[in-house]
Amino acid sequence: MDNVIVITVDGPAGAGKSTVAKKLAKKLGLGFMDTGAMYRALTVKALRRKIKLDDEMSLVALAHETHIDLVDESGAALKVLLDGEDVSEAIRSSEVTNNTFYIARAPGVREVMVHWQREMGKRRSMVGDGRDLGTVVFPGAAHKFYLDADFKVRCQRRIDELKAKGQKVDEAALEKDLAERDRCDFTRKVGPLKKADDAILIDSTRMTIDEAVETMVKHIQGMA
Ligand code: C5P
Repeated sequence: MDNVIVITVDGPAGAGKSTVAKKLAKKLGLGFMDTGAMYRALTVKALRRKIKLDDEMSLVALAHETHIDLVDESGAALKVLLDGEDVSEAIRSSEVTNNTFYIARAPGVREVMVHWQREMGKRRSMVGDGRDLGTVVFPGAAHKFYLDADFKVRCQRRIDELKAKGQKVDEAALEKDLAERDRCDFTRKVGPLKKADDAILIDSTRMTIDEAVETMVKHIQGMA
């Protein structure tokens, strides 16, 4: 299909990427691809199968026999289907959150994911959020953003998010986990979190979600 465009939103955990990318997609009438949800869904399957998370060969074999679908129905939350099963809630558990980066650091797994993501990007214009979309998956994306925020603010957003869901939060443990996720995301050999040279940096530390979306829209419309 010609004329499809991709807009990428990369950045660290808790910067607000998914919420901002989803709102931006809705505003522009584009699809939304949450690539973190794909890594999380594969993690659900690996944990259920009790696959050793440092056994790359088994993880790659698992990825090859897995089908992940992102169902983006306007208005509704993104539905994540793992081999047809709705795992939208299961992928957000802290066990999955704290194990996904083991899966994400395996180069062979990333290769499979990148292939799936590029295929999705060919079918429909979309906004994608992740870590390596502007650098590896879609280096030729029409617009690239890197959404960042201060570490403490990112932690607080996660804490508020979990509390809003009625969950108990161990704040010190959450800070430690987020710091560890950052370390893994920034330092892995393949597809590390990195701002693409041509990505626009948006620091959302003192911005609301809507302000971040508006800033992106202005850049896309050439008004910023
Ligand atoms: O974005 P989210 O926090 O849901 O991503 C979960 C994990 O998946 C991240 O910590 C990161 O390790 C991994 N990920 C990745 N590449 C992407 C998206 C997510 O490595 N494009």
